[in-house]
Amino acid sequence: MNLLHISDMHFGPRHWLGESELLLEKLNSYAADIVINTGDNTTDALESEFEAAGNFLKSINCPHIVSIPGNHDKRNMRSTDYFRQYIDDVDVLRPLNRKNCKKNNIFLLGSTNGIKDHFTDINFLKNISINGESILLVCLDANSLYDDNGFVDEEMLRTLSDAISKASYDRILLLNHYSILDTDSDPLFNSRIVVEFMRQHKIEHVFCGHTHQLSIMRSTDLYHRHTFTQYKNGSLSSSNTPNDTNMFLYYENFGTDAMVIHVVRGTVKNRSLTFKEEIIPSFPVVEN
Ligand SMILES: [Fe+2]
Repeated sequence: MNLLHISDMHFGPRHWLGESELLLEKLNSYAADIVINTGDNTTDALESEFEAAGNFLKSINCPHIVSIPGNHDKRNMRSTDYFRQYIDDVDVLRPLNRKNCKKNNIFLLGSTNGIKDHFTDINFLKNISINGESILLVCLDANSLYDDNGFVDEEMLRTLSDAISKASYDRILLLNHYSILDTDSDPLFNSRIVVEFMRQHKIEHVFCGHTHQLSIMRSTDLYHRHTFTQYKNGSLSSSNTPNDTNMFLYYENFGTDAMVIHVVRGTVKNRSLTFKEEIIPSFPVVEN
């Protein structure tokens, strides 16, 4: 199985000046079974930005594109409506017990005009079959409306756990906009419960973005004897890359001993793009 990982496209004022067509040509040159898009599709969650991001995603030649929102995609009261209209009309999980939800603005007033969905958290599962293997992608929304800091609602983790327990799958992967192993100035405050969630469901791989800085890390919990790898991508197409260049990742033979990770960096030159590819070979797989 080959995965293409993109993140932080930032359509809107934070989007770079490179030509989308050239970027798409490059992305489409990889034989991805699944595209993973770890959020910040937009800059300010405007409808025009969601529409541009959705059109870009539709131009990627892959039957399975799994996108999650980032903190920038939650800057609008209509974020959930727009995400489902332009990015992916996913089956949003509703809390098992809404009274237990503690996240700020997770429910908007039902009397607010013009909004279809008054529940703002976008958690969902996707089950995708690749070469006869069933892959469960757990899509966690750690973003809060109008807030750049991350927070995971414990009730939504409980809701996801319940849905996972009813699903059958061969492999399980987690998508989450924020890093849970390292941090930045806009962190996920309660990442501890996500780490516990990963242990509970024996999840060995988590994909994230947010900081615009590449890092691939592995946890080492020697007491619980559970280990996982976090793949944190840089920004695909942001004009502000204070930490790293623009990039995407391609995981060939993902999760096997033959896995090879391609780090593909793009640089804008007079609106044209040049790409440099670095290959991380023989990425060791650890069995729990
Ligand atoms: Fe972000």
